[in-house]
Amino acid sequence: MAEARQMRLGIFVQAAGHHVAGWRHPDAIPGGPDLALMKHIAATAERGRFDMFFLADNFTTGYAEHPSSIGKFEPLTLLSVLSAVTTHLGLAATASTTYAEPYHVARAFASLDHLSGGRAAWNVVTTSYPKNGAVFGRQHPPHAERYAMAEEFVEACRLLWDSWDDDAFVMDKALGSFVRPGTLHIPDFEGRYFTVKGGLNLPRCPQGQPVIIQAGSSAPGQALAARTAEVVFTAQNNLPDAQEFYAGLKAQLAQHDRAPDALKIMPGFMPVIGETEAEARALFAELSSKLDMKQANTVLSDRLGMDMSGFELDAPVPELPESEHLKSRALLLLETARREGLTLRELCHRVAASRGHLTVIGTPVQVADVMEQWFRQGGADGFNLMPPFFPGQFDAFVDQVVPILQARGLFRREYEGRTLRENLGLARPASRYASAMGRAAE
Ligand SMILES: Cc1cc2nc3c(=O)[nH]c(=O)nc-3n(C[C@H](O)[C@H](O)[C@H](O)COP(=O)(O)O)c2cc1C
Repeated sequence: MAEARQMRLGIFVQAAGHHVAGWRHPDAIPGGPDLALMKHIAATAERGRFDMFFLADNFTTGYAEHPSSIGKFEPLTLLSVLSAVTTHLGLAATASTTYAEPYHVARAFASLDHLSGGRAAWNVVTTSYPKNGAVFGRQHPPHAERYAMAEEFVEACRLLWDSWDDDAFVMDKALGSFVRPGTLHIPDFEGRYFTVKGGLNLPRCPQGQPVIIQAGSSAPGQALAARTAEVVFTAQNNLPDAQEFYAGLKAQLAQHDRAPDALKIMPGFMPVIGETEAEARALFAELSSKLDMKQANTVLSDRLGMDMSGFELDAPVPELPESEHLKSRALLLLETARREGLTLRELCHRVAASRGHLTVIGTPVQVADVMEQWFRQGGADGFNLMPPFFPGQFDAFVDQVVPILQARGLFRREYEGRTLRENLGLARPASRYASAMGRAAE
């Protein structure tokens, strides 16, 4: 019997896999812009009744020439192709509020929502790493300023998405009216960072507005999420911390007259699956043995916002000041290292595995047990799945873990609807002009 509250599942797609050494596994497709692999993952996700297919994004050649940051598609062009070969899967892409204009972003996501029949989602990020600024010839703004920009950016996009009333495009041949008079609401937005004084040149999208995802966990990140986000991605590596984050963020929703259920919290989750626990552990050990310590150290340095290459690898992790770039996640890593007495080498291995996200190494039942526990005990509404490599470990999850979650009544057997909002159980936002005087006078 299905339970009333259902788990949400996203697949966080990174062609090279999420373990830094994942691409080197004999069964892995090593990454690169591989459309056949992307289509396979999308089809597998839809077969597994996943809520969404998610792509992260940055603008650098990455760390030590690792395939996760080079050889990847631009997210929105890829999702546009996938929209034509899927029918129910949500399509979520990251776009930065630090290095874009609201008009470009609002238009692209509205377009994807039309192409996909209402399955678009935008992961709003402020872009963490300073080196992203280089390709734009810009200095990376400080953390607080990036969030002030993000608040404005999202507001401007929302105005743009409400440019047209839902019933504006009547296309009446007899009358010669393509749109109904009085249905265009031109945004007049003047902020400190962005100005938008013109409407969107396509109809209001099927979902009204694309689903908004947010992935920053700092205080300003949570404030933005509480006001605007409908899904939150987060990195939590143990249940007590996840519960604290979950309860804290849900509590902030009331300040904005939002119900707790209006925002779904989906921590990242790396399952390393084997037929037996020993087999899963051997797989993880094999990946660890293939780890390039220089790459692992660079990943850690990026996370911490400082170069760690000069420190002794086999000594305890040194005391470090709080990073300006990655406040919440850097702190999480350092706390973990202190609590568990990790050496720098051990922390490198930890970060290289899943970048601070929850990792479970075991059988399909053990993986499902942890997911159920987090879901039932106030740690998560669902998970953003991060397989160590593709396609094998994702196929294993869909074929072996999803049926367990379904049998326990925790996860859908069929999609509830056709739009991402319908499947996530999120309301379709009415246009801010829907109840305005103008329409009432008609
Ligand atoms: C699952 C997940 C995915 C993320 N994807 C991106 C991304 O694609 N691009 C990016 O710049 N930041 C990404 N981030 C980072 C956050 O958006 C945010 O910039 C970072 O956590 C720093 O913000 P904070 O200090 O508020 O936590 C991601 C974070 C998480 C947890």
